[in-house]
Amino acid sequence: MTLYKTKVCCVIGDPIEHTLSPLIHNKAFENLGLDFVYVAFRVNREMLGKAIDGIRAFNIHGINITIPHKVRVLEYLDVVNDLVRNIGAVNTIVNEEGRLIGYNTDGDGALRALVKGGVSLSGKKVVVLGAGGAARAIVYFVAKEKPSSIMILNRTREKADELAENVSTKTGMLARAKKLANQSLKYEMQDADLVINCTSVGMAPNIGETPLPKSLLRKDIVVMDIIYNPLETRLLKEAKEAGAITISGVEMFVHQAASAFEIWTGNKAPVDLMKQITIEALEGELK
Ligand code: ATR
Repeated sequence: MTLYKTKVCCVIGDPIEHTLSPLIHNKAFENLGLDFVYVAFRVNREMLGKAIDGIRAFNIHGINITIPHKVRVLEYLDVVNDLVRNIGAVNTIVNEEGRLIGYNTDGDGALRALVKGGVSLSGKKVVVLGAGGAARAIVYFVAKEKPSSIMILNRTREKADELAENVSTKTGMLARAKKLANQSLKYEMQDADLVINCTSVGMAPNIGETPLPKSLLRKDIVVMDIIYNPLETRLLKEAKEAGAITISGVEMFVHQAASAFEIWTGNKAPVDLMKQITIEALEGELK
């Protein structure tokens, strides 16, 4: 192996200290015997432009973008497809001979997690809780799968309306929106097939909270949570108790990483290994 050929990947964000990405990508590179290395860089808002110049100067090959840069990084890229432009956020970049190409693997990761869980969206009613960055990416990817309907429920009604309108206009798939409240939840959950929690309700340290009352959960629905800390949120625990099929946030986290890995390396990602490492790391951290 010639070391000077090592391809460098990184994540840039702020804060960045708790990221699991270097751990899972480096293990995955090692597992496949790839001459790649992954590091984390703390880059504050003011330095984003300079960091992107640095990526070009050092010819860094693959980049993950996280909070707070996912939206603003778009203006520094050379190629962004329509889907990513509509979502308005990028979490993965590949540097192809100096051309920076932006992707969003959050939505893709969520879809892959659903497929892995044996869930097909075609003809299903999907209820999305939340209208923030993660919800945006997921709703656009869900819309491509031709569900029968999409209902977005968000604490701030205006954000849900805006997302529903944008998705409907851009994809031709009708999405509707309401304010997230007990009454709207009760009504919309009656005939829901799949509910995806994209709010931060239930995330550590607020592990006693849930966005969806247990009384609305039943066995013939699929419940997905994008929160992966804790590994099992109160929502997922109660969904399991109600007999529902559940998909944890770890699945989406792992699959968004796997999707980035595949964009950078052209190799199929060792998804099971990446999942195992993620769970071990989270369990270690939670102790
Ligand atoms: P992310 O990028 O992870 O999606 P975000 O863009 O900050 O993060 O979005 C967080 C989501 O969680 C939003 O939909 C937010 O609702 P608002 O748009 O009303 O802020 C939702 N959220 C956060 N705390 C909440 C709470 N206590 N109850 C209900 N929704 C909440």
